[in-house]
Amino acid sequence: MIRVLGSIHRLVAGALVVGAASLSTIALMAASGGAQAAPTPQSAPAPQAAPAQQAVNTAYAGTDTCITCHSDKEDSLKGTKHGEAANPRSPAATHGCESCHGPGQAHVDDDAKGHILKFGQMKAGEINQACLTCHNRGTHAGWESSTHDQRGLACTTCHSVHAPKSIAHQLNKATETQVCVACHRLQVAKTERAVAHMPVREGSMSCSSCHNPHGSISNVKALKVGSSVNELCETCHAEMRGPMLWEHAPVRESCTTCHDPHGSSNDRMLAVRMPMLCQRCHIATKHPASIYDNNAITVNKSNRMFGRSCMNCHQNIHGSNHPSGQFFMR
Ligand code: HEC
Ligand code: HEC
Ligand code: HEC
Ligand code: HEC
Ligand code: HEC
Ligand code: HEC
Ligand code: HEC
Ligand code: HEC
Ligand code: HEC
Ligand code: HEC
Repeated sequence: MIRVLGSIHRLVAGALVVGAASLSTIALMAASGGAQAAPTPQSAPAPQAAPAQQAVNTAYAGTDTCITCHSDKEDSLKGTKHGEAANPRSPAATHGCESCHGPGQAHVDDDAKGHILKFGQMKAGEINQACLTCHNRGTHAGWESSTHDQRGLACTTCHSVHAPKSIAHQLNKATETQVCVACHRLQVAKTERAVAHMPVREGSMSCSSCHNPHGSISNVKALKVGSSVNELCETCHAEMRGPMLWEHAPVRESCTTCHDPHGSSNDRMLAVRMPMLCQRCHIATKHPASIYDNNAITVNKSNRMFGRSCMNCHQNIHGSNHPSGQFFMR
């Protein structure tokens, strides 16, 4: 029986784009709910009349068979979420190895050992489809059409199923930052600047405190929450959340008007040094002399040039709730 099937496999598979065909089969399998859906040759032989293609692509060999030749791969799943048989959605509880690699009886039968999904040789889109059969909900619902998807990243660009290096989330590098730095050197360099940054390099925050690398449906720049930069920042900096009696327009607009979210070499992660930060918008104020007067710089040193500069007086720059706080001085 197996022998006969084996030769059919070889005949048919030769004429098939194996990857694509078996991928759609996995998708079907997942949609129809897993283990019981596919008759395997051992348990329920396919009727003679059934198209040969289906017999090939739905024939599962079972993990026990796979590990007779690939024993190391079973060990690598132990203790990971994919090996948790108690979780009904896990590969361990469904088709084991073949939940990801696709039905493998043809691979077992074929001396050339083709007919199996080889992630190392697949296109990003094909890899992602194999994983998305299970990971298409919740925080992953935004993957398709996300920037990372469009730019050809695969799940395996950042994750490893059999040989993860991180403690959490099976990343293929020891830390999240090491994963991202391969392509986002600029942002990583900023988070590591000495003067001002949020505690990313100290490890109490990470890129994913603010971003969802799997994309988000609600906003730009793959921000993790909210539909604007401010909504994101205010989840941690709640005191900045309005409404205020006296609002400062640029603060309502976006925190990134004045702060670089990844860090900067200016105090408080300011995008520009004081007082130039303010003077990008407030050029001619009612203030007496311009701070650039020779006098103001050398003789009567202007308090607008030193220390917290404009902030020495306009302390509540994010807005004020004081009745006479219209100039953000209280
Ligand atoms: C009879 C031994 C045998 C069995 C059983 C077997 N394989 Fe293989 N497998 C091989 C050999 C030999 C290769 C190397 C040839 C190749 O790369 O095509 C291989 C290659 C692979 C590869 C590709 C490796 C790479 O370099 O990318 C994957 C994936 C794989 N097997 C998965 C499975 C799965 C899943 C099962 C169970 C359905 C299975 N194998 C059952 C012998 C076996
Ligand atoms: C959750 C999906 C998933 C499951 C379950 C899974 N694999 Fe893999 N497999 C992968 C991915 C992805 C790769 C590419 C390398 C990596 O990410 O570690 C891979 C790579 C391989 C390779 C290629 C050799 C290598 O180390 O790169 C073999 C062989 C293999 N898997 C066999 C198996 C066997 C046997 C099982 C069952 C015991 C299994 N896999 C279960 C996803 C899976
Ligand atoms: C048969 C379903 C299934 C397939 C296919 C599958 N996974 Fe999973 N995966 C799970 C389940 C179940 C969990 C546990 C978390 C959960 O319930 O969502 C999980 C967890 C994970 C985790 C988190 C691990 C951790 O320790 O936090 C990563 C990363 C992951 N999978 C990556 C992948 C990748 C990459 C692929 C494709 C190569 C893949 N998965 C294919 C079912 C699957
Ligand atoms: C750009 C790198 C990157 C890519 C590409 C990527 N991931 Fe992740 N993934 C991460 C990071 C970082 C985490 C941990 C932080 C987090 O949960 O957002 C993670 C966490 C996870 C988790 C566990 C946490 C959770 O939300 O359940 C799963 C499951 C997962 N990824 C699956 C996938 C799948 C499936 C794909 C492909 C569709 C994929 N990832 C693509 C970086 C990536
Ligand atoms: C293999 C390369 C690669 C890796 C690794 C990578 N990214 Fe990206 N990422 C890209 C590319 C390419 C873009 C698009 C950049 C552009 O358009 O300028 C992008 C865009 C982004 C964006 C902007 C999204 C948008 O919608 O504009 C964010 C945020 C981001 N990545 C975060 C991360 C994080 C966090 C990690 C680590 C978990 C990571 N990336 C890892 C390649 C990568
Ligand atoms: C405190 C929150 C926060 C953290 C932490 C953070 N980002 Fe961002 N990131 C943002 C915001 C907000 C934007 C949008 C900036 C804008 O639109 O002006 C952004 C934009 C980006 C972009 C798009 C290009 C750009 O600069 O506009 C990339 C890429 C990116 N971040 C990568 C990363 C990486 C990699 C890490 C980890 C090293 C990281 N981010 C950590 C908030 C954060
Ligand atoms: C996940 C929580 C979180 C998010 C989201 C977040 N922050 Fe922070 N932020 C922190 C923590 C923690 C600190 C350090 C606080 C401390 O040292 O007292 C900090 C510090 C700061 C500082 C002061 C830095 C310094 O050098 O003193 C600024 C400015 C700042 N954040 C702006 C922002 C902006 C702008 C955003 C949105 C792009 C944002 N934060 C989003 C947690 C967050
Ligand atoms: C008009 C420019 C401007 C905008 C817009 C702005 N900030 Fe600031 N922010 C500053 C300045 C200037 C400081 C430094 C204050 C000081 O030196 O005392 C600062 C300081 C901070 C600090 C450090 C703690 C503190 O109170 O000194 C945090 C946190 C912060 N800003 C968060 C935010 C958040 C969140 C947003 C968006 C809701 C935002 N900022 C928008 C100018 C701005
Ligand atoms: C992106 C442009 C922008 C930046 C940067 C900016 N502001 Fe403003 N600021 C405004 C706007 C717009 C108003 C509202 C003006 C109005 O209502 O006439 C305002 C109002 C004010 C007011 C109240 C004045 C009034 O007439 O109501 C003060 C005081 C002020 N800003 C100080 C500062 C200081 C100090 C800084 C630097 C930390 C700063 N601003 C940075 C745009 C900016
Ligand atoms: C010594 C305290 C002090 C310093 C330092 C200071 N201001 Fe003022 N500022 C004031 C006072 C007081 C007012 C109210 C003036 C009035 O009532 O006419 C004011 C009013 C303003 C106004 C609103 C009135 C207008 O002219 O439109 C703006 C905008 C402003 N300041 C910006 C700045 C900027 C930008 C800096 C830094 C370059 C700065 N201030 C530094 C005390 C100060």
